[in-house]
Amino acid sequence: MTEPAADPKTVAEAAALLRAGRLCAFPTETVYGLGADATDADAVLSIYETKGRPRFNPLIVHCAGLDMARTLAVFSPLALKVASLWPGSLTLVLPAKPGNGLADVVMAGLDSVAIRIPDHALALELIAAVGRPLAAPSANPSGRLSPTTAAQVRRGFGGIVPVLDGGPCRAGVESTIVRVEGDRLVQLRAGAVAREEIERKLGVTVAVAEKDAAVAAPGMLASHYAPNALLRLDAEPREGEAYLAFGEGPDFGGVTRNLSPAGDLHEAARNLFAMLHELDAAGVGVIAVAPIPETGLGEAINDRLARAAAPRG
Ligand code: TXA
Ligand code: MG
Repeated sequence: MTEPAADPKTVAEAAALLRAGRLCAFPTETVYGLGADATDADAVLSIYETKGRPRFNPLIVHCAGLDMARTLAVFSPLALKVASLWPGSLTLVLPAKPGNGLADVVMAGLDSVAIRIPDHALALELIAAVGRPLAAPSANPSGRLSPTTAAQVRRGFGGIVPVLDGGPCRAGVESTIVRVEGDRLVQLRAGAVAREEIERKLGVTVAVAEKDAAVAAPGMLASHYAPNALLRLDAEPREGEAYLAFGEGPDFGGVTRNLSPAGDLHEAARNLFAMLHELDAAGVGVIAVAPIPETGLGEAINDRLARAAAPRG
């Protein structure tokens, strides 16, 4: 997507783009989101490519209603209580339902999923028209300010991203992220809904995550990504290890997955989390990982692998 994009004039036009696996920016009450069908791995990967995101941070999944949300995550009674604040600028991190149909890259290999129902009529109409949940980080190139108007989105991406214009966003800051941990609520990111407001409205206590975990939410923490096996990077496999190959590799008789025999980084990114899980399930002590070029999506793949290989704390 490098040509100037024609903006959709209606929700139906925007929905058609998203259903076809294209990106489309859309308004929410917090900030504009860069949306993709959350069940389409290729569409979600183009979010990372378009934003120039250097790492696979898990993305927030936007739903049209609680019915849709309940197909994706397990809601405890406490989670349902907090969800009574939806639609709203509050994102809940919940255990993912196995086989929920979401692309791996949305959860970045975690077994939890971040969900919210935005409080914005156009956003809700759009998700309902697509009929699928939408992954959407803020619609800005990585490292820049979050956009609160369609014009800012257009400028930020040089016009290559189609934008559904819904006027300026009301809140202007991202949603508050709260993780439900058993009978505890933990705020991972402060945002548009004050922690005290959640506590007051629901009569609950919301803890604040430790400083480290609160840094842009715990998707960044090495421990969240670590497989059981140790990872040896930039390596050729040895006897007794499993091998995560890329492109043409050495002949190896042990358990092997190839991220992309053709050396295609997009294909490699799509396969990354599933293949790591598969190799880990083989029960080996070490997974040797072939060198991955540091270009395009390779940067995010290498970041993820470096975190998985980091010493365990
Ligand atoms: O207001 C908002 O929340 C905007 C609008 C567009 O809805 N969206 C937004 O999305 O800010 P995003 O994808 O940029 O925020 C994702 C944040 C990341 O910091 C990520 O680490 C955290 O949510 N997150 C996502 N899934 C998570 C999970 N399973 N566990 C912990 N944190 C998670
Ligand atoms: Mg952002």
